[in-house]
Amino acid sequence: MREAKMADSSANGLAFSPQTKARIAELLTRYPRKQGALIPVLWLAQEEFGWLKPAVLELVAAELQLSKASVLATAMFYTMLYKRPHGRFHVQICTNVACYLRGSDDLVATAVEVLGINPGETSEDGLFTLQQVQCLCACERAPTLQVNKTDYFDVTPNQFRALLEQLQTDGLRLGPSIGWPGADESTNPPDASTGTEASYA
Ligand code: FES
Repeated sequence: MREAKMADSSANGLAFSPQTKARIAELLTRYPRKQGALIPVLWLAQEEFGWLKPAVLELVAAELQLSKASVLATAMFYTMLYKRPHGRFHVQICTNVACYLRGSDDLVATAVEVLGINPGETSEDGLFTLQQVQCLCACERAPTLQVNKTDYFDVTPNQFRALLEQLQTDGLRLGPSIGWPGADESTNPPDASTGTEASYA
């Protein structure tokens, strides 16, 4: 049964890049069982494909010789593992108490105005996903926000506006994340479910 799943996965045409394969191989040396590497491999898969569509989960399952169900269960548990397309820039604004008292609402309003999307949405061009989050663990530097893996502290609306405008310029140069329409398809085939929440049934 497991071999059949692996055959299906390789048949869908999706494959890790040689660089990611090498990183996975290195990761596997750190764990006594392949299952132990599941979360970091899912993270690498997300880095490479932009989000964890079902075909990517199958690829991870095949790579680690795990059932698709166990890979899916892990992916569904963690909000940092994306089950729907995300923009190239994931903008997370903390709106918890300390940040709220220090003006996070103004930052949200700035993002909505500049990006033209509401929290929880992704821009049509695939460049931005906007989210409100609860405490980025830097309350003493409120208001705080995060763009991808970079933290920003003591942010003013004007600073944030300048940052978003710079990212818009960068985004036009870089294009949307892999997996979005118009993204580089030479290494990643287009997916029919791109732009929508995938079905994991
Ligand atoms: S309340 Fe915003 S970082 Fe803690």
